[in-house]
Amino acid sequence: MNEPKIKIINLHKSFDTKKILTGVNLDIYQNETFVIIGGSGTGKSVLIKHIVGLLKPDKGDIVIDGESIVNMEKSEIIKFVRKFGYVFQGAALFDSMNIEKNIRFGLERFYDYSEEQMRDIVKEVLSRVGLEGIEKKMPSELSGGMRKRVAVARAIALKPEILIYDEPTTGLDPVLSDSISNLMIKVKKEYNVTSVVITHDMKNAYKTADRIGMLYKGEIIGVGNKEEIMNTDNPVIKQFIEGNSEGPIEF
Ligand SMILES: Nc1ncnc2c1ncn2[C@@H]1O[C@H](COP(=O)(O)OP(=O)(O)OP(=O)(O)O)[C@@H](O)[C@H]1O
Ligand SMILES: [Mg+2]
Repeated sequence: MNEPKIKIINLHKSFDTKKILTGVNLDIYQNETFVIIGGSGTGKSVLIKHIVGLLKPDKGDIVIDGESIVNMEKSEIIKFVRKFGYVFQGAALFDSMNIEKNIRFGLERFYDYSEEQMRDIVKEVLSRVGLEGIEKKMPSELSGGMRKRVAVARAIALKPEILIYDEPTTGLDPVLSDSISNLMIKVKKEYNVTSVVITHDMKNAYKTADRIGMLYKGEIIGVGNKEEIMNTDNPVIKQFIEGNSEGPIEF
């Protein structure tokens, strides 16, 4: 197999005395969609913030395209930051900016596009996510599903090699959730990206994932493809995917 696109090695992170990550090991490959499931507050967002360099581990390493990003100088990190698109938990649009400005925000910081190029990119990515012509609308005028689509458009505008989705379908009805799953599959094909997805939505996980792993007690457990996860005999994963309150998971 090729070298992993993302390699997480023995990652540890605590906040004060609270241990969140206690030895995460995970390889994610080029053009793979890897889905991380796990209970609320287990550290999923903390884990992906390490992958994009927003948090530094207490111990362990993150290797992207064969290079460790953990001890990189700020100036070097910039070229790695450009590899990422991040669809934040809750869409996280800037409420005071219209949709065009929201999408241009990252573009203006990372690239030297002309006005015209920038307008074309905004138009292009909005059409990719099925929202042609909404450039001048404000985020407050959009539904939850549309906001998520704009968040995806904003991320792909940067032409990322790695796309991070933090709970892309949370808060959406089942039909809209499914349309976001389909959008994620389309983006994977059309942009040839490697995706890391955090979700509680098992339908979204099964539909989009090449492989799935569960973050539990600070480690990634039970990595497997959809069939392997569905047929797992690991009692923790079984309880989680079936959504039972009875079982070994402590909360
Ligand atoms: N910057 C921080 N400082 C202190 N504690 C933090 C910080 N970021 C996260 N935590 C704590 O780490 C734990 C894991 O948080 P995280 O946001 O990663 O959970 P999560 O798995 O993404 O949960 P959810 O599914 O609810 O989004 C929580 O107890 C949270 O309070
Ligand atoms: Mg989270």
